[in-house]
Amino acid sequence: MVRSVGMDFGTTNSAVGVVGGDGNVTLARFEHKGGVSDTFRSILYFHPDLRDPKTNRPAPIAGMRAIDQYLDASGEGRLIQSLKSYLADRTFDHTTVINRAHSLVELLGLLIKDLRARAEEQLGPLGPRIVVGRPVHFSNSDGDADDDFALSRLKPAFEAAGFEEILFEYEPVAAAYYYETRLDHDELVLIADFGGGTSDFSVIKVGPSHRHESKARILATDGVGIAGDALDSRILHELVAPALGLGSKYKSMFGTELNVPIWIYERLRRWHHLSFLKTTKNIELIKEIADRSDEPEKIEALWHIVDDDLGYHLYRAVERAKVELSAHEETMFRFEDQPLVIEAPLSRASFERWISAETTQMAACVDRVLASAGVSGSDVDRVFMTGGTSFVPAVRKIFDDRFGAAKIQAGGEMISVATGLALRAQER
Ligand SMILES: Nc1ncnc2c1ncn2[C@@H]1O[C@H](COP(=O)(O)OP(=O)(O)OP(=O)(O)O)[C@@H](O)[C@H]1O
Ligand SMILES: [Mg+2]
Repeated sequence: MVRSVGMDFGTTNSAVGVVGGDGNVTLARFEHKGGVSDTFRSILYFHPDLRDPKTNRPAPIAGMRAIDQYLDASGEGRLIQSLKSYLADRTFDHTTVINRAHSLVELLGLLIKDLRARAEEQLGPLGPRIVVGRPVHFSNSDGDADDDFALSRLKPAFEAAGFEEILFEYEPVAAAYYYETRLDHDELVLIADFGGGTSDFSVIKVGPSHRHESKARILATDGVGIAGDALDSRILHELVAPALGLGSKYKSMFGTELNVPIWIYERLRRWHHLSFLKTTKNIELIKEIADRSDEPEKIEALWHIVDDDLGYHLYRAVERAKVELSAHEETMFRFEDQPLVIEAPLSRASFERWISAETTQMAACVDRVLASAGVSGSDVDRVFMTGGTSFVPAVRKIFDDRFGAAKIQAGGEMISVATGLALRAQER
């Protein structure tokens, strides 16, 4: 018998669900250090010494174990995050990891294979068929052609992980299936799924009389490649980069005053590019700037981060501050790797100002999806918000302003998509 299996392969977190004999979805539970979670970190790590004994190729590991190994190895090897965000990026075809080129498809395949193996440890064999979530528009996509290109890379990655029949479903449609399980009446809902890489929306009829209408009940879908990672990137740019010399000056060999090049900080914002800074040429450049800078201690701090590969540590400090601001008006940003300490107070008000371009784009997409569904705010019975970034107060406010707080419901932040995909697998 073919099982109904769904996989939410997320930019930051992934989850796997199967439909049991009773029609309910069981999610894979991932153990880690005595705790257990419904989600698996979408992260891959290559340890410099770990090799596949058969092929002698570097053998990566994924999930939380990847992070543990990376931290144990004190920054040696390569940690790769947010791979899904590069699917639509035609300039990212492969990257060199420990002296060997790996294609994006290969890296994704390795990640999905490990996720599959961990899920099968308790769910048993998943079988050949799987329904996989996809954002409406991928990060870094400029339209349908780029989205198709992204899918043309995601599919072989699932094949490499042993799946044969791979069906894609929009993530915000899957989240609607999850929302619907708790519903005893019909509703017109706006689903809003805010993740790490993308924010996705669907306007869909849910409830007992629509349950079997399949595609016909989806009035519209839309999305933008702006979500949690983009918010982190703002904190990095506004708070961290200035402490690392963004905006500082230095004197050229000929005595002219120059700005420290901004591209250095652009690289910092994209975690996987940080290791690209560590080329001989860039090392020389950063050293030269440090010697001639009007704020040498800041350039030395930058150097410390590049040289010690502290991109992931920096990411964690930034994410921690962002998460704190979902619950508090103020927080203290703190990054420490002796002798370097970056500490600064951060208020929710400043954060909201920094991310206003992002929240404006999200809001415009909400308005667009309503328009293409041909409905107005008052026609919508309920808004269902899900995904990790839906915790951000400024993101919630987009909906409070348009629909009123009473219409908004939130839930299943980390599991709604995987649960819905498994339910969808039952129908297809
Ligand atoms: N309490 C919180 N406040 C703010 N942001 C949060 C909070 N909790 C999680 N996040 C953010 O949510 C994001 C991860 O959410 P989620 O797991 O839904 O994304 P994903 O499914 O992996 O990504 P995508 O759907 O875009 O592929 C991260 O950017 C994380 O920092
Ligand atoms: Mg998601």
